[in-house]
Amino acid sequence: MPLNPDAIGKKIGPLTKDYTWKDVVLYALGVGAGFKELEYCYENNLKVIPSFSIGAVFEFLASVAMESNVNLAGILHAEQDIIFHNPIPPEGTLTTEGTITHIYDRGPDKGALVVAEAVTYYSNGKRLFTNIFTLFGRLDGGFGGEKPPSEKIEFPDRAPDHEERDLPTPDQPLIYRLSGDIFQLHVDPNFAKAAGFERPIMHGLCTHGFACRAVIRALFPGEPERMTRFKTRFSRPLYPGTPIKTQIWKLEEGKAVFRTVNDETGEIVIDQGIVEWMSREEMQKRLSRQGIRFDGRVAIVTGAGGGLGRVYALELAKRGAKVVVNDVGGARDGSGEGSMGPADKVVEEIKALGGEAVASYDSVATPEGGEAIVRRAVEAFGGVDILINNAGILRDRSFGKMGVDDWEEVIKVHLMGAYNVTRPAFLKMREKGYGRVVMTTSAAGLFGNFGQANYSAAKMGVVGLMNTLKLEGEKYGIKVNTVAPLAGTRLTEDVLPEDLFERLKPGYVAPMVLYLASEKFQETGMIFNAGMGHFSRVAVVQGPGVVVGDGSIVPTPEELQRSWESIDNLEGAEEYYNATVALGPMMEAVSGGGGGVGEVSGGLTVRGVFERMADAFQADKAGGVDVVFQYRISGPGGGDWYAVIKDGECEVREGLHERPTTTILMEEGDFLALMEGRLNAMSAYTSGKLKIEGDLMKSQLIEKLFKF
Ligand code: NAI
Repeated sequence: MPLNPDAIGKKIGPLTKDYTWKDVVLYALGVGAGFKELEYCYENNLKVIPSFSIGAVFEFLASVAMESNVNLAGILHAEQDIIFHNPIPPEGTLTTEGTITHIYDRGPDKGALVVAEAVTYYSNGKRLFTNIFTLFGRLDGGFGGEKPPSEKIEFPDRAPDHEERDLPTPDQPLIYRLSGDIFQLHVDPNFAKAAGFERPIMHGLCTHGFACRAVIRALFPGEPERMTRFKTRFSRPLYPGTPIKTQIWKLEEGKAVFRTVNDETGEIVIDQGIVEWMSREEMQKRLSRQGIRFDGRVAIVTGAGGGLGRVYALELAKRGAKVVVNDVGGARDGSGEGSMGPADKVVEEIKALGGEAVASYDSVATPEGGEAIVRRAVEAFGGVDILINNAGILRDRSFGKMGVDDWEEVIKVHLMGAYNVTRPAFLKMREKGYGRVVMTTSAAGLFGNFGQANYSAAKMGVVGLMNTLKLEGEKYGIKVNTVAPLAGTRLTEDVLPEDLFERLKPGYVAPMVLYLASEKFQETGMIFNAGMGHFSRVAVVQGPGVVVGDGSIVPTPEELQRSWESIDNLEGAEEYYNATVALGPMMEAVSGGGGGVGEVSGGLTVRGVFERMADAFQADKAGGVDVVFQYRISGPGGGDWYAVIKDGECEVREGLHERPTTTILMEEGDFLALMEGRLNAMSAYTSGKLKIEGDLMKSQLIEKLFKF
């Protein structure tokens, strides 16, 4: 049967494909990535090799072959041009639609070309990439059709600017085929022999993936999202286990041509390559235009059947998150049977807007309920990245009238609820090395409110929970923060003024919760008020205090009374990142500024350490040492400082150095403990409290070069 010219213009698709980070990593391993390009292989901050896009369209390619009626006995993949519109998220759903755009005749015995174009969208409607395929029908030429345009790149007449070498393993196709192309030619020795090959050959698209990695490595290493175009022509087969090199000529900023060569025979296996990429500035601009997104993220919102939680769930879904809408559907005081209605309704609302959501009706008030809510996220969407602890009830009574039931029920939903859901979620986030948890407190807890002893205790309890989880989550990329909302909902309908109704809409709180839940929010352990468009931070601070007496005898209450002004004084109060740091000023004060803690003077602050660093420098130990130590200390009292050591001198400055030899990353409390000698450098390193980037060996000089 001849080619079908009527296939031109015929719509193919929409075809959808779900993928997870494991598909992305499997593809990366299939095209030779490994520890040296861990960004493609590790789910923590995973990046997608742009050529992965081809995996999304295998089915489309098969449909093109069927629709065009190309003779399958002579079909070859001739060219592939991919235009990238947006970076590919590490997991999600892709939808591809397209048409056959041309069928060309190269003449009798010269074959025919079928060209098709497909656009792929992400689940949030964003256009990710356009693929232009050219299939070669070796046996289909001479049907009297239009001749193909001739396009040929002339490679510059000079040695390539870059040569990137790779060695696909002898078993490479066995891994690559797991990404979807299971054609026997690449696995079955008998099939390969029958097709005229010694043994199974590499998939052309596998070599294509190697070439894609190679050009990124040479031109914009570690930033695959900068690629805007990748065009290739498949010219010869390659046996697995053969060394290859990709030769690259940079034509101008943002454009290069390349080819991939069999390094044993010199034959070109991928020819006529064009790669285009955008500048880092352009990429940043694109990213900032995109704003805060949750594509590929899974969020649980508890108590999302109404009030504030409903709005959080809707807004998260609108920005690409897959949401578990949890709500028992009970009464305001937590009484009654509960109902599925509120959660179901919000799920419907999300779906009607084109988002993804599932309902969960379990109560946060029991550990089993918490487990079930997290299980729902894992089963429906494969994990959990974001947890908004929002479910709440009220049982207001003045304290004298507050029975144990009223006390317990409120504690169970707010405080136990935060524990019950956060614990299983936290374990999942730890596995993944990423997480955002938002707790919900209240002005009643932070400052007190008549008739709400139970609620206030619970709401301050979640702040304590946050304070410790921020520390325990730190090395796993989990940020834990707290919102104190103010909004007109059924919880507040009888207490808030009606005339402010419009401004009291939950929508005014949601932006804060979304920001705290986003990847962009890098702080942890913070409390923010949000309501009516007003936002502010709340913090626990500690005054400078005073030592009463000389320390040799216990002071009397009368002595305290006399010193009250100083004890009570909050001038110069500070917040502290953890209990150890908070104890610092007390230790320093009682030690009278000498020995131990007092050694690092200047108020035991990170800044104080760097101010003293140049003085602590041991010039006699620095002969021949030429290094730059960059310190990046996290936490509210942290910051960036660097020490340049050259010609026996040390200069310490605040900020980031362009080319540090070694970068030290630590949390403020750990850093101070290290400087005080309470934390040993080796155990800090092995426990993950001290992270070192760059030249690890040079970091060992620090102990020798500085004596505090
Ligand atoms: P709301 O009553 O409209 O929403 C709370 C939701 O939690 C309800 O849909 C309820 O069915 C659900 N819920 C109750 N117990 C549950 C359980 N055991 N398991 C699962 N779901 C449960 O109230 P609103 O105002 O939206 O409150 C949301 C959160 O914000 C609460 O934690 C509340 O304490 C807090 N908050 C609200 C303020 C406001 O001004 N509305 C002020 C300060 C804090």
